[in-house]
Amino acid sequence: MKIGIGNDHVAYSLKLEIAEYVRSLGHEVVDFGHHNEERADYPVYGEAVANAVVSKEVDCGILICGTGVGISISANKVNGIRAIVCSEPYSAMLSKQHNNTNILAFGARVVGSELAKMIVKSWLDAEFEGDRHAKRVEMIKAIEEKQAK
Ligand code: RB5
Repeated sequence: MKIGIGNDHVAYSLKLEIAEYVRSLGHEVVDFGHHNEERADYPVYGEAVANAVVSKEVDCGILICGTGVGISISANKVNGIRAIVCSEPYSAMLSKQHNNTNILAFGARVVGSELAKMIVKSWLDAEFEGDRHAKRVEMIKAIEEKQAK
């Protein structure tokens, strides 16, 4: 898969480690920044990766900030994005199986790199189960459409 990755200054070093890990799993990584530890604003990177997912420039996205909260909220403002912020693998897996999440977020101040890798692998390996869950994801889309009017 082609995976977009984005982060703020807090998460720069974890981003490098996660990008390398994702490559080691056989995926291509597109790095939308931030590219150093100088202070940066997480909405910029949340929006950039979200737009790349919606436009299909990448298949899905991974976002990291201090907590994963700000950057995932930013991504979720883009229509078509279902971003989860989580700090354990179980919710990451279920979020793909049931909610068809297209962005995974977590916090560099919350999880260590080995746990982050487990979360990433659980999410990437999981598949949307469709069926009764598809109807609910459609209902989420309907909420977006109502907001757009
Ligand atoms: C930056 O200090 C911090 O607020 C950011 O990384 C993130 O945790 C926001 O949700």
